[in-house]
Amino acid sequence: MTELPAPGDHPKAGHRRTPGARRARCVAVGTALPERRLTNADLAKLVDTSDEWIVTRTGIRERRMADPGTALSDLAVVAARECLDRAGIQADQLDGIICATITGDHVMPATANIIQHRIGARRAWGYDLLNACNGFLAALNTAAAFVEAGRAERILVVGGDLMSSLVDFRDRNTCVLFGDGCGAVLVEAGPGDGYGLIGFEMHSDGGSAADLIVPCSGSALPATADALARGEQFLKQNGKAVFQQAVRRMAEVSTSLLDGLGLTSADIDLLVPHQANLRIIQPTAERLGVPMEKVVVNIDRVANTTAGTIPLALADAEASGRLHQGTRVLLVAFGGGLTWGAAYLTWGR
Ligand code: COA
Repeated sequence: MTELPAPGDHPKAGHRRTPGARRARCVAVGTALPERRLTNADLAKLVDTSDEWIVTRTGIRERRMADPGTALSDLAVVAARECLDRAGIQADQLDGIICATITGDHVMPATANIIQHRIGARRAWGYDLLNACNGFLAALNTAAAFVEAGRAERILVVGGDLMSSLVDFRDRNTCVLFGDGCGAVLVEAGPGDGYGLIGFEMHSDGGSAADLIVPCSGSALPATADALARGEQFLKQNGKAVFQQAVRRMAEVSTSLLDGLGLTSADIDLLVPHQANLRIIQPTAERLGVPMEKVVVNIDRVANTTAGTIPLALADAEASGRLHQGTRVLLVAFGGGLTWGAAYLTWGR
């Protein structure tokens, strides 16, 4: 495990208040979830587990599962259209689409291109961004950089995964944790002193890559018959190591970001953490000094949808009246890489 620099030496490269004339604002969110629910009781018919074990260890009660034949773009198109409707924007007003996912329709072409075509975003470029459970935040920060630099006016950031396509439903260590779902957020240029993305911080530790990995998913281990017979195409994890790192890093990066911006937990109206485990979310909030009333939790209903968790949680918060124009939001995520990050923003336009 690579150690981060001591707090005093921290480069703070990711912290910043947008200095220029433009700020990237998050103006609307749309989502798509498959209809089919897979409860803990359903899983207990597949593997040696129980509702009681899953609820007490993770907080998850059910997750959504796409029907066979569904691709990520099928959900993404629904989420994208809903997001654009809510923003009052036509698809041909988009300059770009960034799709964060580890379960795109194919390795090639990028799913963002398929979304671009299906929603009729004629002027938009598109590409995918792969950073596991931290993928949505990475894509958001990338989109914000384009917008702040004046290289785009509007970028649709899609985050979603069909984890049912990566999980071994014979492995109780992993199959209970994940679900399928997708969301999209419109990032749009606004005035530098208005609402929008105020700061971010990101980190990586590739030295711990093996702790959360899909071994047979690229050039390191091509899909030979032997590899597939060993089940190397499924997600593997060192659950305890991931758990410990997630608790530590999510609190650490949030505190570091707030410190760098000269803010405190009192400046957070809503904490939107990646939904991996309720037992990761609670100590993160506790270490930050944010009461659970300000924390968005939907893991009980949708489980861990990897790149989908943050937009799905934002949409939940909006639907329940907790996210509106001017809400000060801290987003924080952790995932395979290992990679973790946080972003602080005021919602809306
Ligand atoms: N049902 C019943 N028992 C299960 C089980 C399941 N679904 N999954 C694992 N177990 C068993 C283990 O085999 C172990 O049995 P053993 O002691 O006989 O070996 C026992 O439960 C305890 O496992 P342990 O690892 O101590 O549980 P835990 O409290 O650490 O919780 C996780 C396990 C996976 C829920 C937890 O480690 C976790 O959430 N890790 C992070 C995973 C994650 O979020 N990954 C994605 C990150 S983005």
